[in-house]
Amino acid sequence: MTKPTLDTAWAQAWDILQQAIAEDRSPLRFVTLATVDAQNAPQLRTVVLRDLDARAATLSVFTDARSHKVGELDTNDAVSLHLWAPDQLIQLRLSGQTVITQGEPMRSDWQKVPDHMREAYGHVPSPGTKIDASDAWTVQPNIENFAKITVTLSQFDIVCLSSDGHWRAEFLRKNNWKGDWLSP
Ligand SMILES: Cc1cc2nc3c(=O)[nH]c(=O)nc-3n(C[C@H](O)[C@H](O)[C@H](O)COP(=O)(O)O)c2cc1C
Repeated sequence: MTKPTLDTAWAQAWDILQQAIAEDRSPLRFVTLATVDAQNAPQLRTVVLRDLDARAATLSVFTDARSHKVGELDTNDAVSLHLWAPDQLIQLRLSGQTVITQGEPMRSDWQKVPDHMREAYGHVPSPGTKIDASDAWTVQPNIENFAKITVTLSQFDIVCLSSDGHWRAEFLRKNNWKGDWLSP
C-alpha cells in the first residue's frame, strides 16, 4: 500500500472535482447541496456542478432564483456540498459561503443554455408551490429566474475508506489550505 500524503490527498480531491466538471455525463457532477432554512433545519437536494475555479477555490451551480434554497441563502449564505466518488472510494465534504447572481448579469451563461434546459428556470407556479395535480404547472423560461450560486470554499473534509487503508484529511482556507490528518 502507498501511504497517502497531504499533497496526494489534496490532489485527489481536486482530480475528482475536475473530473466531475470535465465529463458532461459523469455521475460525479450530481452533488448534494445543503443549506440551513429559517427554522435552522438542514435542507438537502441534488444539484449539478457547473463550474470550478481551482485557483480561487470556487465552484458554481445553476438554479431557479425563486427556489427555496435561494431564499434560504439570502438569510444564511453557508452551504455544504457532499460528493461520493465510488472509483476512488473517497467522500468529499466541502463547505463555504455563497453569492447569488441572477437575471440580466447572467445573460452570457443564459445564452449557452439550450432551449430544453431553459425550461428548468421557468416552472409556473414557482418551485415548491402547492398545486392541485402532478401536472398542474406550465413552463415559461425567463432569464429573471436564472440564477448562479457561487460557492467560495472554506473547508475540504476528505475521507477515504479503501481496503488499502482508511484516512481522513481536512484543508482550511484560513490556513492557506495547509492540510491536517484527522482520525477517520
Ligand atoms: C438529477 C437531479 C439534478 C438536479 N439538478 C439541479 C440543479 O442543478 N439545480 C437546481 O436548482 N436543482 C436541481 N435539481 C432539483 C433539486 O434537487 C431540487 O428539487 C430543487 O432545486 C428544489 O430545491 P429547493 O426547494 O431546496 O430549492 C436536480 C434534481 C435532480 C433529481
